[in-house]
Amino acid sequence: MEPFLVFENKLREAVEKESIRSMRLVDRSEPDQEVKQILVKGVHLKKGFRLQFVYRYPAKDITKNLDKKEAISTLLHHAEYDYKQITLSLSDTEILLSKNPKGQYVIKERALKAQPESTQHDHQKKRLIHSKRPFLHALGVADLDGIIKKNKQAKFRQINRFIELLSSKIPNSKKLSVADMGCGKAYLTFALHDHLVHQEIANLNVIGVEMRPDLVQQCNDITHSLELEGISFRQGTIQENDITEIDILVALHACDTATDDALIKGIQSKAQLIVVSPCCHKQVRKAMNTQGTLAEITNYGTFKERQAELLTDTIRSLYLQAYGYKVTVSEFVSTEHTPKNILIMGTKQTFKSNTPDPTLIKQIEALKTQFGISHHYLDSYLD
Ligand SMILES: C[S@@+](CC[C@H](N)C(=O)[O-])C[C@H]1O[C@@H](n2cnc3c(N)ncnc32)[C@H](O)[C@@H]1O
Repeated sequence: MEPFLVFENKLREAVEKESIRSMRLVDRSEPDQEVKQILVKGVHLKKGFRLQFVYRYPAKDITKNLDKKEAISTLLHHAEYDYKQITLSLSDTEILLSKNPKGQYVIKERALKAQPESTQHDHQKKRLIHSKRPFLHALGVADLDGIIKKNKQAKFRQINRFIELLSSKIPNSKKLSVADMGCGKAYLTFALHDHLVHQEIANLNVIGVEMRPDLVQQCNDITHSLELEGISFRQGTIQENDITEIDILVALHACDTATDDALIKGIQSKAQLIVVSPCCHKQVRKAMNTQGTLAEITNYGTFKERQAELLTDTIRSLYLQAYGYKVTVSEFVSTEHTPKNILIMGTKQTFKSNTPDPTLIKQIEALKTQFGISHHYLDSYLD
């Protein structure tokens, strides 16, 4: 049988049986074309099985999900006219179709070694977010086969640690609104959405708020290409956004007082769970005016920095408690990767009223006085 026909039969069978692992189309027939290669893999979306095509342009990737019929005809067209080398990977075999210099097709098939039960694989079984989740590939954390990229190992661990810490605190409800303030590239927003989707929450609405328009565009593009439901991204500042219904508020490494702005939104909307991982602590560092023995602590820049961090986060935790939250503080990731590793989680205690606990407000005032702080960012907004 003609090599192309053999390939076509194998491709049709693999797509029909949904046994395709991945496909790579490289070496363009006309080398000056913009798209240098296409990567394809099978994905299970709400609408059913689809083939996800990643078109690799020099400076961007464009993703399209095609149903079986469309995918087969697109791939056969590309194989015939556009690319000289196509690798079709199945679970146990790899089929390589190539065109020789005379333009004739050559087909080669080789058995693939069984996937080694590597340490990485073993660990992944225990992880809450599996490395093969489509959003990880879309964000550049994993490759098409779900192998975590070398320079993204720490990010992958951070994502999983975050979900692990949060999972036991997620309110038991069929309807959840989540806001991630200062979501950046939204690694953690997508991860939390992915985790919640698997909790079968019927009415899920995850919103990422970010002031950089390019990042918002990027995140919304991923949402559309993966056909995700219940997640969207809004451009704007934390202060100006008008989201009022929030069950879970997240703000991770939001700069300086952006963490406070997020806390204010969470407390005002009576979020059931508030999770912040503070970033820089400029406001308190500048406001501190220590006297006497305490002045020794702030004599050195590094000590002052650390003291400001501790003080800021203590005041934030006390404010959360004053507004009826039970607070836990944990280490988010290893300090080896970043010193910004504190995760403050507040769980709303239903029996508390909306007015702040006066005893705790007094404690905040005493602490501020001790460190010569006349004003903390949260004071005026939560009075
Ligand atoms: C260090 S990044 C952290 C991103 C993400 N939360 C994470 O942990 O991976 C901080 C992000 O917050 C955004 N940001 C800072 N202040 C903000 C504000 N007031 N309103 C909205 N976004 C803000 C920045 O543009 C940046 O993308």
